[in-house]
Amino acid sequence: MTRIKLNVDGVRYDDDVEPRTLLVQHLRDRIGKVGTVVGCDTSNCGACTVLLDGVSVKSCSVLAVQADGKAVTTIEGLAEPGGALHPVQRAFHERHALQCGYCTPGMIMASVSLLADNPDPTDAEIREGLEGNLCRCTGYQNIVRAVHDAAAAMADGGGAAPPQVPAQAAPEQREVAV
Ligand code: FES
Ligand code: FES
Repeated sequence: MTRIKLNVDGVRYDDDVEPRTLLVQHLRDRIGKVGTVVGCDTSNCGACTVLLDGVSVKSCSVLAVQADGKAVTTIEGLAEPGGALHPVQRAFHERHALQCGYCTPGMIMASVSLLADNPDPTDAEIREGLEGNLCRCTGYQNIVRAVHDAAAAMADGGGAAPPQVPAQAAPEQREVAV
């Protein structure tokens, strides 16, 4: 077992993990962040996308021990503390950029990362930026529209970047015995 410290959605978690544990397993099975989902076992679908120190990663392709000392933002940490949706969440909702919704957590997290890098992307840049995220339902058109809407809302001051709280500054701590 290896002791790791993570800040997940603004809360610090100290846990002992097996070195082979994937970050997505740790987030779901130990921390309870079941909004981050698993859609494949081949690192292809992107459903498990989270932000690791602000950068989008497929959490099924990262070991939990590799995230030690880092800040993880999941779909569950994206909204404001009062419950107001992040502009990307709002745009997906308003554009109906989903059907079954299974890809949506990863699609939204990848879109947040995309807009942090490129606040005013073209259609082609959105499609390229989200090429690691697969949707079996929507045909992508409304997803692209939603990212454009979110970009416009954020340019108008309608939303902030996701929280980037370093593990050392987390407000709470949890000890989990194994
Ligand atoms: S579950 Fe991670 S890429 Fe599919
Ligand atoms: S909405 Fe069903 S997989 Fe994307």
